[in-house]
Amino acid sequence: MKPFPVYPLMNINIQRGLGSYVWDQNDRKYLDFYGGHAVISIGHGHPHFVQKINKQLEKLAFYSNAVLNDLQTELAEKIGTVSGYPDYQLFMVNSGAEAIENALKLASFKNLRTKMIAFERGFHGRTSAAVHVTDNPKISAKINQGFERVILPWNDLSVVKKHLLKEDVCAVLIEGMQGVGGVHVPDPQFLKELEKLCQQTGTILILDEIQSGYGRSGKFFAHQYSDIQPDLITIAKGMGNGFPIGGVLISPDFKAQFGMLGTTFGGTHLACAAGLAVVEVMEKEALLENVIERGHQLKTELSQFKEVLEVRGMGCMIGLEMPFPVKAFRTLLVEKFGVFTGSSSQPNTLRILPPLTVSEAEVTEFIGKFKEGIVEYCLSV
Ligand SMILES: Cc1ncc(COP(=O)(O)O)c(C=O)c1O
Repeated sequence: MKPFPVYPLMNINIQRGLGSYVWDQNDRKYLDFYGGHAVISIGHGHPHFVQKINKQLEKLAFYSNAVLNDLQTELAEKIGTVSGYPDYQLFMVNSGAEAIENALKLASFKNLRTKMIAFERGFHGRTSAAVHVTDNPKISAKINQGFERVILPWNDLSVVKKHLLKEDVCAVLIEGMQGVGGVHVPDPQFLKELEKLCQQTGTILILDEIQSGYGRSGKFFAHQYSDIQPDLITIAKGMGNGFPIGGVLISPDFKAQFGMLGTTFGGTHLACAAGLAVVEVMEKEALLENVIERGHQLKTELSQFKEVLEVRGMGCMIGLEMPFPVKAFRTLLVEKFGVFTGSSSQPNTLRILPPLTVSEAEVTEFIGKFKEGIVEYCLSV
């Protein structure tokens, strides 16, 4: 048997990682300003992460959600405190798409409606309902299109308002900062008005913080720049620093009933140990402050390049609008300069997603290599 070839693979076989770097099969070193689409939060192989998972593994990897699990309680409490949502509840899952599925399901349980609103360029995952609220018909199969959903323009309040005032919309789903769609920050005023409209019309507001959350923006959640409190918040990616774990933060207005949600693997002992290690490091190393400083450094330096048309984003989630499709440039950066960066669904947008632990020197190293890369790319075309 062979893996089902759905990914266009680079010819690089990563063997190990440490901090902001990874090494391939020939022991070549790469600067990782991609982290597998924003997954690596506290850096590769962080000693506390490794130690905590190893210790837990020696004791117990898994036992079922049918018994008490102190680690789940501890992780929920810790996330509640560091995120500023101490009175919310946490439902743990294994991936981003699964978090979205459960958030949509909770919204529909709550107001008994089915119509969903999402936004242009939005990405929410590839499973059943998540892919239908994603703005990409190419990855949606017939079976995914089983409920009414409307994709609306970004930051356009009047259009959303028209829909919400009909009072038949179950939920509005929006990313704290669009990631796959090319790093677009929602207008804070738009989010604030959206929150108000949702409250007025009995619509559930779901913030997808799977990519933009967990400190990546410089606040724990990107939507906290807009001073709103969504009903549901989805998390994954940075939550486990590579260990598969996700979750839904659920407002106290939602009452749990036995069996309404469930999963075999969500919140296992090992996953909780990984999740706890991440938040502990975030606190101990004051990573939110580091993200703000490094984000400022990145934006200031990258804005100097005449080849960069626009620098978008916040903190360690930056989108660069280039005057050319970035595919060949990304390949050049990896192959010649040993730097991983991210693509997006917008051909001319490069995504820069370093770990939240990235140092000033590593950002400087990135800028230097980016500069050399630009020179070489422009000479070659
Ligand atoms: C904003 C957002 N939501 C949901 C997902 C889906 O997460 P997963 O790939 O873990 O299912 C992603 C993945 O890129 C994402 O960026």
